[in-house]
Parts: sequence; structure tokens; C-alpha cells
Amino acid sequence: MLDTANPAPDSRHTSALEMLYRADPETVIRGLMEGTEITQQERDRIFQRSIDLINYMREDGKPGLMDLFLAEYGLSTNEGIALMCLAEALLRVPDHGTIDALIEDKIVPYDWDEHLGKSQSALVNASTAALMLTGRVLDDDNSSSVLGLLNRTVKRLGEPVVRVAVKRAMHEMGDQFVLGQTIEEAIKRGKAERKKGYLYSYDMLGEAALTEKDARAYFDAYAKAIDAIGRGNQEKGIETSPGVSVKLSALHPRFEFAKARRLRTELVPRVTELALAASKLRIGFNIDAEEADRLMPTLDVFEQLLQDPRLAGWDGLGLVIQAYGKRAGAVIDWLYDAAERHDRKVMVRLVKGAYWDSEVKRSQVDGVENFPVFTKRAATDISYMCCAKKLLGMTDRIYPQFATHNAQTAATILELATDGQRYEFQRLHGMGETLHNYLVQELGARSRIYAPVGPHKDLLAYLVRRLLENGANSSFVNQVVDRRLPAEHIARDPFEKYQTSINRPPRGLKNPQQIFAPERLNSKGWDLRNPADVRDIAETRHPFSVHQWQVGPIMAVDPTGDETLDLINPAEPKDTVGTATMANEADAAAALDAARPWIESDARGRAATLNRAADLYETHFGELFAVLAREAGKTQLDAVAELREAVDFLRYYAVRAMELPAHRPVGVVSCISPWNFPLAIFTGQIAAALAAGNGVVAKPAETTPIIASLGIQLLHEAGVPEEVLQFLPGHGRTVGQVLSASSKVSGLCFTGSTATAQAINDHSPRQRRPMRS
Ligand code: FAD
Ligand code: 2OP
Repeated sequence: MLDTANPAPDSRHTSALEMLYRADPETVIRGLMEGTEITQQERDRIFQRSIDLINYMREDGKPGLMDLFLAEYGLSTNEGIALMCLAEALLRVPDHGTIDALIEDKIVPYDWDEHLGKSQSALVNASTAALMLTGRVLDDDNSSSVLGLLNRTVKRLGEPVVRVAVKRAMHEMGDQFVLGQTIEEAIKRGKAERKKGYLYSYDMLGEAALTEKDARAYFDAYAKAIDAIGRGNQEKGIETSPGVSVKLSALHPRFEFAKARRLRTELVPRVTELALAASKLRIGFNIDAEEADRLMPTLDVFEQLLQDPRLAGWDGLGLVIQAYGKRAGAVIDWLYDAAERHDRKVMVRLVKGAYWDSEVKRSQVDGVENFPVFTKRAATDISYMCCAKKLLGMTDRIYPQFATHNAQTAATILELATDGQRYEFQRLHGMGETLHNYLVQELGARSRIYAPVGPHKDLLAYLVRRLLENGANSSFVNQVVDRRLPAEHIARDPFEKYQTSINRPPRGLKNPQQIFAPERLNSKGWDLRNPADVRDIAETRHPFSVHQWQVGPIMAVDPTGDETLDLINPAEPKDTVGTATMANEADAAAALDAARPWIESDARGRAATLNRAADLYETHFGELFAVLAREAGKTQLDAVAELREAVDFLRYYAVRAMELPAHRPVGVVSCISPWNFPLAIFTGQIAAALAAGNGVVAKPAETTPIIASLGIQLLHEAGVPEEVLQFLPGHGRTVGQVLSASSKVSGLCFTGSTATAQAINDHSPRQRRPMRS
């Protein structure tokens, strides 16, 4: 059952948050700009300050090892991608054989020579030399030269050495991002930076717990860390105290919208316990921002903490807001409103957002209407600037924390903050040292380091995010070390940049509906993590929640079978879904006599009809979802996947239809489908046969004739003639037997086959055999 309880308490901002989830980006940006004006003079000064900062970083600063490494091996090179895959995989591959194979796979094929000597860092150049050597040694296997022989020997003797060296290098890379494997080690290692004036927020690595055991372990790690950090804390004010950063997905294995009620009773007490411990020791307790679909449950947990009387008077509770999210501005309004209602002061860390790649890919796979994040870099920058201005105007309730490694973003804050205003900068451990050292040491600004703590085995997700965002050649850390790019280019005003790209789609990025374009439309998706979509499904399904369907054969001639079958909900025996009248053997024979190929229609016409059917399937989602749940026992998630697969089949075969003469009709095809995908496979078999111009006689699984009947009715409504597509609910031993054995059948599509029209056509009557999958 979906839990449709609104996860965030009622507030005038909740509906704005819902509406903005996947809103049109231009409208959101316009709204942000109108709500928080940044003047041309301010923009000009920000531009100038950014150039100064970039020049300083280039002239006086020493870029960090990581910045240089990522600049040399960004994701625009094959080598960079190979290294990222290697780093990502090496941390979790347990056995030596696989590690060796992986190293060979990821290192040998690429051109490491290209990078030799290019970096400003001797260490990066040395790594390149090592990778080159490894590549050569592993590559020369087949050479018959003396060198080849030598290399083969080195390879045999040296593989464990190579393995250890590469693994070690990858761990070094991990170390770059982790302050310590334990909290004690991290506190000790942070001493040098604290001496320079930095503060810390410690993040205990671990997220997206899959089991209660994992969640408990992460909870314990946080409890221990809060104790260790807080014990030594002499500070009274939150802006000079250390803190922790917590990912809620680490503390509960089902931290998701659909489990809103469970989260209130299971997760909230856990987070409250940690927050109480932090408040007693007067340290900061910050809730990180994760994937976009976790925002509403995060806000709900946050409001539960805000209204807890035991936390009154403590202003160390913090929330992260992602500027790349279309709801960023609305979250700030919601938060300010909530802080006022509960009379609290909170901290807000403004970031751009670390899950950009996965948000984009997930939306595309899900076929939803739009992205929850901006897809133009300039839009994220504008959003950040507008949100920063908003936050700086709310300091009576909010202590703003600006997390960035970008000089242009830092310049924005320096320009927009008024004299003496309380705020801080933040950076990640292992990144942004030059910029932040300048902010702290030269400008006397406050800066806090977000420091991951934990074993390497928990580093994976965090490391991949760092590699992805920093390896992108649009990222600031990547651009600032690339001397070919003038400072003016890097510092360019985002408003101006955005203006010149308006009405132009983002380069190289397809909207979810268009991922198969120009060939075909992606099937429409429903986001079950979005309250609005869940409500839409519930409302549209509702009229069919007790409806009883009566279905039977749909034939070109009158059926004679009179056996009826009650269809019972497999998940709820008291729910009778309807009745099916079963066809008999005589009906099967009569249907085959009346059947004919779809010859009057040309390929274009057939394609148009299949596309119309796909649209009709999508329009009738409420009824189809209701039947998939009640007749086939499908969960809502499975029902969405099932309908989408059916629609994809229809559109896919519509395209194949146009490939004639590759696919010619063979006559009449019988399609006998299974119960486990009673709409998707049923539709796929039929669509394949129809696309090539065949006639079809279809028999659904005995247990799922209603959903199949609805599919047939929609195909007829789309324009498939009745003699071309007939429907025979019936038993395998009678109807199924006739349909698979009759000499009138030219092709047989049997059970789970997703065979293409071509595969069907390959089976002439003489060669005919069942196609199974
Ligand atoms: P920049 O190079 O200026 O910006 C890079 C960012 O721009 C990308 O990360 C992405 O957000 C955005 N972007 C890139 N391409 C596009 C595009 N085509 N369209 C639109 N936007 C695009 N992130 C979280 O999600 N949750 C957290 O809780 C969190 N905590 C953080 C704490 C600290 C102290 C810091 C420093 C960062 C934190 N981050 C967090 C990471 C943060 O979101 C950024 O990913 C990271 O800091 C890079 O931003 P930047 O301003 O330094 O770099
Ligand atoms: C992340 O985990 C820093 O919270 C941010 O990517």
C-alpha cells in the first residue's frame, strides 16, 4: 500500500514545493530573479572580485593535489573515465583475480602517454608514468620480442605488485577526501587546520543504509562522534563550535517518501536522540541534502525537530539546501516560516548540489515530465546567488553557511553580505584550500571544513560524487587549473550567460520524454516519490477500486463458450475483480477461420495505429493500474513498470513497422502470453505481429484475462480491425492447444517471448515452431 499521508506538515509553502518539483526551469529562474533582485552594479562588482580571486589562486596559490589530478584526468578524457571506474570498483572488489582483470581492463586500452609531463604536479606526473608503465607491461603480452618476453615475465611476477600499487594509489585518492578512519584520528589530524582558524563539521561516512543493522551501526558512529567532538568543546556560540553533518538515509533503511508514517515513529526518535546529544554539548547538528526525492521526508523530520520542546533555545540545528534544485527558493521560505512558527534559530548550508548526474539519469530512466534540478550551469549559479541573497536577508532566524570552492560564488557572498553580518564559508576536506586559506587568512572570514570520517569501505558513494562533479570540465576546480581559460571566462556573470542561452535546450542533454528521440517517444513515467504523482494515481484509480469487470472473447464471429471464471484478487481473497467467459475449442477454430492479415493498411498506417494505442494505454492509466493491482497482484511500482513496458513495446514496434520490406507479414499469428507480465508481454507479442501486418489471435493467461481484455479494447479503439486482432480468454489445454497446433496459424508467439516481428516472420508455416523465452 502506498502511504499517501502528506510527509511535510501543512504549511502555505508545501503546495509551492510540490508545484516546483519538476517545474519549467525558465519559470523558476524568473521567479527567483523577481523575488530577490541582484543589481547590475552588484553583478559588475562580483565579476571584478571573481577575477581578482581567480588571479590570486593562479598566481600565489598552490592548487591541491586533487584539483590537479582531476584537472589532468577529468571526465572529458577516456583515461579519466577509466580511472574513475577503477577507483569506484577497486574499493569494493574483494578478490585478487578480479582486481587484476579490472586493472588490465581499465588501464591497458588508454593513451596514458598523452598526459605525461602535462601536470603542474610532480606527483600527478609520476602517477601518469606509473600508469603508462603498467599499461605497457600488461599490454605487451603477445609480442615475441625480447622486450615482450621480459614484459610477460614482469607481468607474471609483477601482477600482485601492480595490484597492490594501483590499489594503494586508489586508497591514497580516498585518503585525500577522508580526514580519518576514526573520529579520534580525524580530530587529531584536523589540528593543523584548526590552528589556521578553520572550524570543522564531521561527517561519519555511510549513507543509504539497506538494513536496520547498517542503520544502527551508522547511528552508533554518530553518537560516538558527537560525544568525542562535544566533550572538548569550550565554545558557547554555534558559529565557533564544531559540528556534525548527518545523512538521514544512513539512519533508516527506508528513508523515502512512501514510508512517511514509519519515519515519524522510527527515524524521528533516532535523529532526535542525536540532536539532543549535540544540543547538550552545544555543537552543531547539520542535516545533509541528498537525492531530490528525499527532500519532503527531510523537511518533515526537520520540522519534528524544530517543534520538539527539549531542543528549544539551541540554535545549532542546520539544514542543507541545494541550489540546483528547482525548489531551493521555496525551501528557504518554508524553513524561515517554520522557524518563525516554532520560534527557533537555525543554520542553513547553501550548496549547489552533489547528485546532479544521478538526478538527471534517474529522471530519464523514469520517463517523468521534467528534471527536479536545473540542467544549465548558469541556472544553478543564478539560483545560488538569489538564494544567498535571500538567506542574507533572513539572519534574524537563519545563520547562513555558504559551501563552495568556486571563486565566483565566494565573491558573490563577499559582495552581498553587509558589514559585520554573521555568516560562514565552508569547504570540503581535501578541496578548495587555496581559496579558503585566502578567505580565512587574508580576509578574516570564517570557514568550516566538512570532513568525512570512516573506513574506506564506506567511502564509495562519496568518492564517486567528488570524482563526477570535479572531473566535469564545467566545474570551477577543473577550470581554474586550466591556464588556457582566461579568468574573465571563468568569472563570467551567470545572469548574462543564462540570458544568451535562453530558449536553447541544454547541450547534449535530452528531456526524459525524448531519450529515444527522434525514433520514438519514451513511455510516460509516474514518480512514486512525488506526492503529486501518488495522489494523481490514487484519485484516478479510485473509481475502479470496487468495480467488477465482465470480459469474454472478442471475435470477428459470435463465440459459443459459456464457461465462466471468477477472477479473485490474489492479494485479497475477498475481492472479486470480475468474471471472464472462456472461449472453447470451437471458438478458437472459428476465430482462426475468420482471422485475416492486416493487409489493407500500409506500414505508416499500422505505425500510426500502434502509436495511437500507446497513447490510449497512457490515458487509461487509472483503470489499468487498478486491474494490474487487483487481478495480477502487482505493487504500484510494478504496475508503473508494466504499463510503461507495454507502451514502449507499442512505440518500438511502430518504428519497426516502417522498416518494411525487412518485416513482411506471414499470415495469422497466435499469441499466448503469461500471467507474470499480463499486459506488457501480452501487448509486446501482439504489437510485434501487427507491426508486420499479420493477423493475431491472442490468448491471455487464464488468471489475467481482464487486463488483457482492456489492452485489446484499446488496440481496437486505436483502429486495429476486429478480424485482424481477436481475443480468446481460455484454457491452455483447449484454446491454447488449437492456437498452437492449427495449420491456419503461420506464426506462434508463446509465453514470455519478446520476439520481434522479424522473428515471427522467420517462421513460415512449414518451419513453424514455438518461440519461447
Ligand atoms: P562549481 O564548480 O561552481 O559547481 C559545480 C556544481 O554545479 C555541480 O556540483 C552541480 O551542482 C552544478 N552543475 C554542474 N553542471 C550543471 C548543469 N549542467 N546544470 C545545472 N547545474 C550544474 N552537496 C549536497 O548535495 N548535499 C550536501 O549536503 C552537501 N554538503 C556540502 C558541504 C560542503 C561543506 C561543501 C563544500 C559541499 C557540499 N556539497 C553538498 C557539495 C556541493 O553540492 C557541490 O557539489 C560542490 O561543492 C561543488 O560546488 P562548487 O560551488 O564548489 O563548484
Ligand atoms: C556529499 O556527501 C558533501 O554531502 C556532500 O557529497
